[in-house]
Amino acid sequence: MSRIKKALEKAKAERMALEKQKVLREEPAKVEKVEAPKYFQTKVVEIPTEKLLHNKVVAVDEDDPVTDQFKLLRTRILSRTRAEGKNTIQISGFDTDEGKSLVAMNLAICMAKDTRQTTLLVDVDFRKPTVHKLLGLGENVRGLKSYFEGETELGELFINPGIEKLTVLPAGGRILNAPEVMGSPKMEALVKELKGRYPDRYIIFDTPGLNTCPDPLVFSEYIDAIVLVARSDYTSQESIKTVMNLIPREKLLGTVLNDSQWLDSLAYYYRY
Ligand SMILES: Nc1ncnc2c1ncn2[C@@H]1O[C@H](COP(=O)(O)OP(=O)(O)O)[C@@H](O)[C@H]1O
Ligand SMILES: [Mg+2]
Repeated sequence: MSRIKKALEKAKAERMALEKQKVLREEPAKVEKVEAPKYFQTKVVEIPTEKLLHNKVVAVDEDDPVTDQFKLLRTRILSRTRAEGKNTIQISGFDTDEGKSLVAMNLAICMAKDTRQTTLLVDVDFRKPTVHKLLGLGENVRGLKSYFEGETELGELFINPGIEKLTVLPAGGRILNAPEVMGSPKMEALVKELKGRYPDRYIIFDTPGLNTCPDPLVFSEYIDAIVLVARSDYTSQESIKTVMNLIPREKLLGTVLNDSQWLDSLAYYYRY
């Protein structure tokens, strides 16, 4: 490795360490505590930790250094949304396979670990539904698709994957007219209902990349804040430029650089 690259890496590592200390210091005292809810209608499906780890859902492992990265991301999101009552967060990105779903899942678990709120992870990627796969729930699991097709009540679709204070709402399959569903009054009402029902709950929406289809842009109207995921050595400058001109910038919290070789870790969060 060249001396310049070594020096740059060292500087970056030092900056990360400083930033981490700063964020930890900024985290307010945990005074409020939300009790784990009792699940009446929500189905509880215990998922073995080994299965989750196999699917790279590393946040279930407290000892994994990547979990720290996600906690850092969580802290930064909380500190920039909580005071303003922003609790609906859209995870999007640029193209496919950047790790959006993986980031959404790991982030949701770390959010749920924070004592101050519960977390709901909603899969609204009707082109490539993934949340159920990460949880190993099988392809037949029902989700929002049946709700939008009028076949199922919303209450029947929530699943607690055996992780305290985390609930998921799977996509339940592909939808052909996804942009229309994403922009429908029924979707708007759903987001409003989920947002308003429990004030101490964060809702994370896993959506497709902004360069791949209109769905995530249409959907962004209904949510409070957006986090983008880019993948190192994968997402192009061109893609980034296009998306930056597309998205409502006032809603953008920041971008996660996934799969960064430099940091030898899954995720790193930075601000624009
Ligand atoms: N940091 C990473 N390290 C290793 N594999 C990763 C990483 N991020 C994503 N992947 C893999 O890349 C693929 C796409 O990830 P996914 O989260 O489904 O992307 P997206 O939601 O952006 O389409 C999956 O097989 C996932 O396991
Ligand atoms: Mg995805």
